[in-house]
Amino acid sequence: MRTQVGIIGAGPAGLLLSHLLHLRGISSVVLERRSREYVERRVRAGVLEQGTVDTLVAAGVGERLLREGLPHRGIELRYGGAGHRIAFERLVPGRAITVYGQQEVVKDLIAARLAADGDVRFEVDDVAVHDIGTDRPYVTFGGGERLDCDVIAGCDGFHGVTRPSIPDGVLTAYEREYPFAWLGVLARVQPSAEELIYARTERGFALHSMRSPEVSRFYLQVPAGTDLADWPDERVWAELRTRLETVPGFSLATGEIFERGVTPMRSFVAEPMQYGRLYLAGDAAHIVPPTGAKGLNLAVADVRVLTGALARFYADGSAELLDGYSAACLKRVWRAQHFSWWMTTLLHTFDSDDAYGRRLQLSHLDYVTSSEAAAATLAENYVGLPYEDGD
Ligand code: FAD
Ligand code: DHB
Repeated sequence: MRTQVGIIGAGPAGLLLSHLLHLRGISSVVLERRSREYVERRVRAGVLEQGTVDTLVAAGVGERLLREGLPHRGIELRYGGAGHRIAFERLVPGRAITVYGQQEVVKDLIAARLAADGDVRFEVDDVAVHDIGTDRPYVTFGGGERLDCDVIAGCDGFHGVTRPSIPDGVLTAYEREYPFAWLGVLARVQPSAEELIYARTERGFALHSMRSPEVSRFYLQVPAGTDLADWPDERVWAELRTRLETVPGFSLATGEIFERGVTPMRSFVAEPMQYGRLYLAGDAAHIVPPTGAKGLNLAVADVRVLTGALARFYADGSAELLDGYSAACLKRVWRAQHFSWWMTTLLHTFDSDDAYGRRLQLSHLDYVTSSEAAAATLAENYVGLPYEDGD
């Protein structure tokens, strides 16, 4: 079997790449280890930057997103007994975020690929990439199947096979682990606030988000290695109440919890994001802690760059943009790394912090919520900086 671009992984990165390439007349095959049901149900991100929304709409996969997504023009930072709104409409006019579940983006992209007779294969075992240092790379999978291609896109997430296939000594890894995780739940209850609430308390961080007028999404900072079994519903609600009901007049509505998970927190970048004819995109190349809501959005930004580079390659044979792929992505990647680390340190409780460290954190929060310049820094990073290609 032969295709132009072999794509490993049907997360947002792999599916969007396949779709954008199709729009440019470039063929691809997507190989995914999990089932379609599994990837469509995997609950993760919820915040789409303006540029991500624009990219999906321009690619013709934004119809449901525009109908069902919830546009937000601000977020609240809650600490010290008060809430402080970061007002995007004033700080970054014309730019907003949209709350729309990642699995909905994935569903929309799968539907678009299948409607266009795209080749997306689920439950594919034993994917391995070969001869990536040559211009004849290929992929093997299943019981001896082989996919020949010009280029391989590693869109297989942090635990995938493509990044480890790059020979030793090529990549430099930059990494930071955090001593906590996020316990995330989905609950059938109307959101208790119109906008997202990022709450910093002495007991740890809490986030109030949402998916729809009927479904709320919550996260709690918990110690790394936390076992879900230790968190029955009553404990989740009690802790959310303690961390969120800290301002006068706010009470948290509760409901049936129907999904739960624990996400470790890590910052990671592998450089360069390419080797030979293998190009890494999204979580395969970099991970951010979720506090800044950047992971999915970065995956979309990588895929835009890779699509442009591949379009040039197939148009006139020039590998110039492909050669510059990693460098073109890394500037945005590192901005998001810094922002995500910054939001994480601003809002979480670190056991290693002494009383002095906590005072610094509160001073920083006071600055962000009282200075227009500092608030604008948060706002422009949160809604997403413009793409380098100007779109
Ligand atoms: P993935 O979504 O991980 O997709 C990789 C795919 O490759 C998967 O389908 C996997 O099954 C497949 N795969 C792996 N190994 C193989 C193999 N060997 N063979 C074949 N297929 C393979 N980001 C945001 O932008 N905003 C947010 O609000 C946000 N919140 C988050 C909240 C949580 C709780 C979590 C966990 C993440 C959050 N993120 C957020 C991050 C975001 O979910 C990820 O950055 C995003 O999923 C990256 O997409 P991807 O396609 O690169 O990787
Ligand atoms: C959500 C996730 C995030 O990481 C974040 O910063 C805000 C919202 C969410 O899943 O709704």
